[in-house]
Amino acid sequence: MNIAVVGTGYVGLVTGTCLAETGNNVTCVDIDLEKVEKLNQGIIPIYEPGLDTLFYRNVAQKRLRFTSSLEEGLKGASIIFLALPTPPGEDGSADLSYVLEAAEDIGKLLKGYTIIIDKSTVPVGTADKVQQRISQFATADFDVVSNPEFLREGVAVDDFMKPDRIVIGTSSETVKKILSELYAPYVRQGNPVIFMDVRSAELTKYAANSFLATKISFMNEIAHMCERLGANVDMVRLGIGADDRIGKRFLFPGIGYGGSCFPKDVKALARSAVECDYEFRILEAVMEVNAFQREYFVSKLLRFYHNGLQGKRIAIWGLAFKPETDDIREAPAIYVIRELLAQGASLAVYDPEAMGNIKALFGDKISYAADQYEAVRQADALAILTEWPVFRAPDFGVLKNSLKESVIFDGRNLYDPEKMAGLGFYYNSVGRAL
Ligand code: UGA
Repeated sequence: MNIAVVGTGYVGLVTGTCLAETGNNVTCVDIDLEKVEKLNQGIIPIYEPGLDTLFYRNVAQKRLRFTSSLEEGLKGASIIFLALPTPPGEDGSADLSYVLEAAEDIGKLLKGYTIIIDKSTVPVGTADKVQQRISQFATADFDVVSNPEFLREGVAVDDFMKPDRIVIGTSSETVKKILSELYAPYVRQGNPVIFMDVRSAELTKYAANSFLATKISFMNEIAHMCERLGANVDMVRLGIGADDRIGKRFLFPGIGYGGSCFPKDVKALARSAVECDYEFRILEAVMEVNAFQREYFVSKLLRFYHNGLQGKRIAIWGLAFKPETDDIREAPAIYVIRELLAQGASLAVYDPEAMGNIKALFGDKISYAADQYEAVRQADALAILTEWPVFRAPDFGVLKNSLKESVIFDGRNLYDPEKMAGLGFYYNSVGRAL
C-alpha cells in the first residue's frame, strides 16, 4: 500500500520504518527541513534499538522516503498516518494545534478516497474535530480513524512488529477491511485487532497509560509501607504478581515514572475529567505519589548527611527516564540533580546514552564522567537513578576503592541488600530493609 506518515518524531519514524518493512511504500513528511535533510543523509535523530537496521534496509530498497513537502508526501497515498505532537498546555490539556493545522493542509490536498489515521495520543473527540476540519477543505471522500500507539521507548520496533493488540476506532466497513490487511503481517501470533468506535479507541490510550502509571504509584506506596513495617517489596511484588488478575509487569517501585507519555497522559486524562465535570480522584493521587517519590529519594540523602550536602560529591549513575533510551523528558534525574545542586552537593554523572541531553540542560554545573567508574572516583556516595544493564553487575571491589565511603542510594533496586551488607556497603534502596 502507499502510505504517508505526517510527523517524523518518535512514533512517526518507528511507524513509517516498520510499515515499510512489510513491503509498503512509505513517505514520511516533516516540516523540520533540517531533520528531513538528516534523515535523507541516513542520520537517525533518535536512539532506538533495532531501528537502524530496518531504516537502512528500507531506505536502500526505496520503500522509505523523507520529504518536507506535504504535497509530495501525499501523492498516491491511500492511507495517511498523523503522528504529530500534542504537547500539554498550561492546564495539562493536550494542545491540538499541530494536528488540526495538518488536517487543514491535508484536506486541501486530498485527491481520491483516503483513510486518515490518528496515531498521536489525543483527547476524546479529536477525530471528530479532524473530520470536521478536513471536510471544510476536501472535495474527495475520506475517513478519519483513531489507531492509538502503544510503543514503549527502547523496545518500540519490537512492539510495532509484534504488538499485543491493535486498537482501531472506526465505524466504516471499508476501513476495517483495508486496515485488517495492512496489519495482517504484524498480528501473525494471533494477537487481536480490536475494532471499536472512535471515542472508545481514543480513550483506550489514556486508560492504558493511566492504568500502568497507577500500578507503579500503587507499588511505590506499598514500598513505603514495606520500609515502615519491615517487609520486603520484592517479595510482596512476587506474591501479588503471580496472580494473573494483577500480573507481574509494571510492579517495580522506584523514584517515580517519567518520560514523554505517562506524566503527560495522566495529567491530560485528569484534566479531561474536570472538563466533563468529573473528578478522577485516583489519578490525582497517582500524580501526587509520583511527585513524592523523587522528593523522598532526595530526602533520604539529606537524612543521611545530617550536616547537609555542602562539600559532598555525589556520583549519579543513570539519567535517562528509563534504560535503552537517551530521552530525559520528565526524567526523575532532572529533579534529583537540581535538588542536590541546590543543597550544595557537587555531582559527577554517567549515563550510557543521555549525557548529551543532560549536558544541554546543566552545562558546566556538573561533571560528566567518561564511564561509570570515573563517576564514582572520590565521590562520597553513589546515587542510582536508571536501571541500565551495565549498572546491574558492577565490580564492587572497584566501587568500594573508588568511593570515599561505601554508600549507595539505589532508586531502582538493582542489588540484593543482604549481599551489599555482606560487602560492607551502606545500601539504601526502595521498599527493602537496610
Ligand atoms: C509508555 C507505555 O508503556 C507505552 O505502552 C505507550 O505507548 C507509551 O508510554 C506512549 O504513550 O507513547 P514509555 O513511556 O516508553 O511507554 O515507557 P515505559 O516503559 O512504560 O516506562 C515509563 C516509566 O515508568 C519509566 O520512567 C519507568 O522507569 C517507570 N516504571 C515502569 C516504573 O517505575 N516501574 C515499573 O514497574 C515500570
